[in-house]
Amino acid sequence: MPSTIVITGASGGIGRALAVEYAAPGVTLHLFGRDPTRLDAAAAAVSAKGGVARVHAADVRDAAAMAEALTAIDAATPIELLVANAGISAGTRGGGESDEQTRDVFRVNLDGVLNTVLPILGPMRARRRGQIAIMSSVAGFRGLAGAPAYCASKAAVRVWGEGLRGEAAADGVRVNVVCPGFVETPMTGANGFPMPFLIPPKRAARIVRQGLAHNRGRITFPWQMAIVGWFLRALPDALVDAFGRRLPRKPARD
Ligand SMILES: NC(=O)c1ccc[n+]([C@@H]2O[C@H](COP(=O)([O-])OP(=O)(O)OC[C@H]3O[C@@H](n4cnc5c(N)ncnc54)[C@H](OP(=O)(O)O)[C@@H]3O)[C@@H](O)[C@H]2O)c1
Repeated sequence: MPSTIVITGASGGIGRALAVEYAAPGVTLHLFGRDPTRLDAAAAAVSAKGGVARVHAADVRDAAAMAEALTAIDAATPIELLVANAGISAGTRGGGESDEQTRDVFRVNLDGVLNTVLPILGPMRARRRGQIAIMSSVAGFRGLAGAPAYCASKAAVRVWGEGLRGEAAADGVRVNVVCPGFVETPMTGANGFPMPFLIPPKRAARIVRQGLAHNRGRITFPWQMAIVGWFLRALPDALVDAFGRRLPRKPARD
């Protein structure tokens, strides 16, 4: 059981559920997000389970701020588990994606993951110890018409994490990629269409924790969506394109 854990996007959804899942006496959780009020609420939930919570209001797009905060935490107490979870969702409902939306999805979901992982990767390698979980998605298995930038950002971090896993293992660092299907959070609350095999965040957090404890390279869940992901990759492009055009689209960002 890791005793010093960092989670980005811990102010809500899956990140908060993960924080509560790991909360226990002897465990310190560093909770990152932008909204101080929601971070404080997550910290209270951690404390209620006997864990120690420290909140850090920071934007994952800010490389310098992330590096400064993470390096300070790691210097005080080495981070044992780092969960790069913060992300945004956006799609093409009502038309194509704006340039700004496309760039912001990559800034948060890709640059934000790099800004979280890179400052701590070196120190973990140096001490030959540590675990890094990268939040991807089943949506990252194939580009879909409903959310091109989101799918691409999730594919990028998945593939990066898969490669990094093999490479960092030589230095004693475990890297895991997490690919959820639909989880009931504020993010999916905005979708407004029926989501197959939707699961509550508490169940998602339990599955992630078990997967990380077993050091699974790719943690895809629920199993029904793992099968969907397999089909998305295995079927001919023309078939997936035709299917993708018929799927409901994620809403665009305001
Ligand atoms: N829910 C699903 O079905 C699902 C499925 C597959 C993958 N995922 C992935 O799982 C992760 C968590 O999603 P969720 O469903 O829990 O979403 P959520 O409820 O919307 O939570 C997203 C979290 O990310 C944080 N965040 C967003 N932009 C940020 C920024 N620029 N800087 C710092 N923090 C930021 C938010 O914190 P603040 O608002 O406080 O900034 C919030 O804590 C995301 O990477 C998402 O893509 C979700």
